[in-house]
Amino acid sequence: MNLKKCFFGFVIIFILISSCTVDEIPGTIKPEGPQSTWEIIQSQIFEPNCVQCHSSGTTFAKESDLILTADEGYKQLVGREPFNIEAKKDGYLLVGVEGVASLEKSFLWEKINTPAYEHFYTDHPEYGSLMPLGSKSLTNGELEYIRKWILEGAPETGSVVDTLLLKDDSIFDPSDYDFFPLEPPISGLQFHLDPFIVYPQNEREFLYYWPLNNSEALYANRFEVTMKRGSHHFLFYKYPEEAARPEPFAFRDFRDPSGKDNYETLFSTLNQIFVWGTQIPRTDYKLPPGVALKIEKNQGFDINAHYVNYSNEPYTGEIYANVHTIPETEVIHVADNLFLNNTQFELPPGKETTITKTYTFDEPKNIINLWSHAHKRMTEFKVFIKGGNRNNELVYYTNNWEHPPLIEFDPPLKLNPNEGLKLQATYFNETAVTKSFGLLSEDEMMILFGMFY
Ligand code: HEC
Repeated sequence: MNLKKCFFGFVIIFILISSCTVDEIPGTIKPEGPQSTWEIIQSQIFEPNCVQCHSSGTTFAKESDLILTADEGYKQLVGREPFNIEAKKDGYLLVGVEGVASLEKSFLWEKINTPAYEHFYTDHPEYGSLMPLGSKSLTNGELEYIRKWILEGAPETGSVVDTLLLKDDSIFDPSDYDFFPLEPPISGLQFHLDPFIVYPQNEREFLYYWPLNNSEALYANRFEVTMKRGSHHFLFYKYPEEAARPEPFAFRDFRDPSGKDNYETLFSTLNQIFVWGTQIPRTDYKLPPGVALKIEKNQGFDINAHYVNYSNEPYTGEIYANVHTIPETEVIHVADNLFLNNTQFELPPGKETTITKTYTFDEPKNIINLWSHAHKRMTEFKVFIKGGNRNNELVYYTNNWEHPPLIEFDPPLKLNPNEGLKLQATYFNETAVTKSFGLLSEDEMMILFGMFY
C-alpha cells in the first residue's frame, strides 16, 4: 500500500473528527476530553488552591506528609492512611476506592467539606484545620465534583464526573452559623462588644481599647472568640509600656461611613503590638502545653474587628472573646510576640516588584505561629527559613492581602542561633506613582507577626 496515501487518509479522518468536536452545540456537555476526572481535580482544583503548600520541600508538606503535585498526588491520596494520628486511629484513609463506604471514611473529604464546618470543629477538634488552610473554601461545585469522584471509586483514569458541576462557583460562608455567647473562662478574662450597627453597602473596621488594669503579669494559653455573622477578622493588640494608650471603651472607626480614612485611628496603630488574631468567626486556639503568652502588668487590649455588609439592610455585629490564663507556676516556656516590619521599600509605578528582606536571630527561637500583613497591592507573601539545614524551605504563603492566614506550627518551627526568616513580598503597582511604606490604605506594608518562645 502507498504509505503517503494512507497518511493523507489519516489526516482527513483526523480533521473530520476534530471538526465534529469543535462544532458542538452551545450548552451541551463537552465530549469526553483527554483529561480524566482525577487530572481535572489535580490541575484545576489542587494546583491553584493546595499545591503552593502541598509540594515537596515546604514545611506544610512536612506537617501534613502530603504532596498534591501532578506527579505524586494520586499515589499520595488513594489508599493511604492519614498522617493525622487521631484520624488514623478513627480508621480513615485519605481516599479509599469503595465508593460510598469510602466517602464516610475519607480524610480528604473531611478536611475540605466546609459546609460541615460545625461538625468538624465541634466533634473533631484534633483533626487540624479545614483546607485550604487559611483561605476561602473550595466552591460548592468543586466540592461536589470531588465528592462524586470518591463515590465513583476515585479512579486515576477515565472521566467519571460531569464537569458541568464545576460551573457552580458559589462558596459556603462559614459565618452562616448560629452565634452564641461564650461562657466566661474559669481563669482568665472575658471581652464582650455589645451589638453595634454595620450599615448597608458598607464595611466597618474599628479598634476598641479595653484596659486590663492588671497589677501582675498574666499568662495566656488559650484564646476563644465567637462573632456574629459578617465578620472578617478579629485581633488583639497591646502597647509598649511607655506608649500612650487610646481612649478606653470607645469604638474608633478606621473609616467614616463615606469611606474616608480616619487619621486619628490610623495613627493609634503605630505602636501596636500584635497579640493574637483569627479570621474564623468561631475559634478556639490553644498554645502548646506549658507555653503561655506573657501579658505584662498594666496592659490593655486594643480589639480590632472588621465587619462587611454588602446587603441593603443594616445588621448588628456582636463579639465575645475569652483569654484563658494559667498560673505562672505552670508556665514552662514564656511566649513572646514576633514583629518584623520592613518599612524600607519602593514600588515603582506600572509594574510588579518583589521585595526581599532577611532577618536573622542571635537566640534560638521556637515559632508557634506566623501571620502576614500588607495592603491591597500585595499579590504574594512568602516566608522562607534562612540558614541551617532547612535553608530556603517555604514556611508561610498567602496570595490574599485582605485575609492572610494565621499559620500555626505544631510542633513549633525551630530556628537555631544565626538562622532566621526571609520575607519575600510581591506587589503590583498599577498606579502612575511610586508607592512605599505607610499607614493609609493607598500606601503599602510588609509585616510579619507571630508568636515564639
Ligand atoms: C497554607 C498552606 C496550605 C494550603 C493552601 C492547603 N493546605 Fe492542606 N495542610 C496544610 C497543613 C499545615 C496541614 C497539617 C495540619 C492540619 O491538618 O491542619 C495540612 C493538612 C492537610 C490534610 C491532612 C493530611 C493528613 O494526612 O493528615 C489534607 C487532606 C489536606 N491538607 C488537603 C488540602 C487540600 C485538598 C488543599 C487545597 C484545597 C489544601 N490542603 C491546602 C497546609 C495547607
